[in-house]
Amino acid sequence: MSDLSIHLRFAGIGDLDELMLVEHRAFEKDRLSRRTFQYHLRAENSQVIVAVIGDEIVGYALLRHLKKTTHLRALASLRRGAGRLLLQEAEFLAVYAGSDSIRLEVRKDNTRARHLYVLNGYEYYGEKLGHYKDDGASGFRYRKMLNVPTVAGIGNQAAQIDFG
Ligand SMILES: CC(C)(COP(=O)(O)OP(=O)(O)OC[C@H]1O[C@@H](n2cnc3c(N)ncnc32)[C@H](O)[C@@H]1OP(=O)(O)O)[C@@H](O)C(=O)NCCC(=O)NCCS
Repeated sequence: MSDLSIHLRFAGIGDLDELMLVEHRAFEKDRLSRRTFQYHLRAENSQVIVAVIGDEIVGYALLRHLKKTTHLRALASLRRGAGRLLLQEAEFLAVYAGSDSIRLEVRKDNTRARHLYVLNGYEYYGEKLGHYKDDGASGFRYRKMLNVPTVAGIGNQAAQIDFG
């Protein structure tokens, strides 16, 4: 019987085509370009993690580690449950990279994503006007302070990632 559970691993440049497919299926607008993915797949302080079922990529998270904070640049999931797994792994990787917080922007009308963030302890802290270039929509900014209990709580997720 095939394994239908969701696993996480780091993405490589060989995943580019499939990442673009996920991007097109997950987002109607404000899509990241191929060039942007290429850049982040190679950049030293960026990480792209993917959620996979079997050989198929069903979601991704793109992280950029800055000085003391990590920016969750993008998150996409095509399967219920993958979004939460990716988000929790992103937090683990942020702590590992030395960040004490994780930040992100989300469209005001993206209720599913906002719900996911709030359920996972993210706090609204302001609006970024004109953040989305496609239509000039504002981004709602959320952040989460990362502390030791949080890391301990998600240690199990980290065990699923393939660091090889
Ligand atoms: C927004 C998006 C990433 C959510 O991903 P997802 O895989 O559907 O999210 P999940 O299923 O992991 O989380 C949502 C569900 O888990 C529940 N959940 C998530 N975290 C939880 C927590 N900590 N505790 C309890 N429940 C939780 C939610 O209530 C919800 O339940 P439901 O399945 O009954 O609706 C996905 O819909 C997507 O890619 N959308 C298009 C792209 C996009 O908007 N990306 C975000 C841009 S900022």
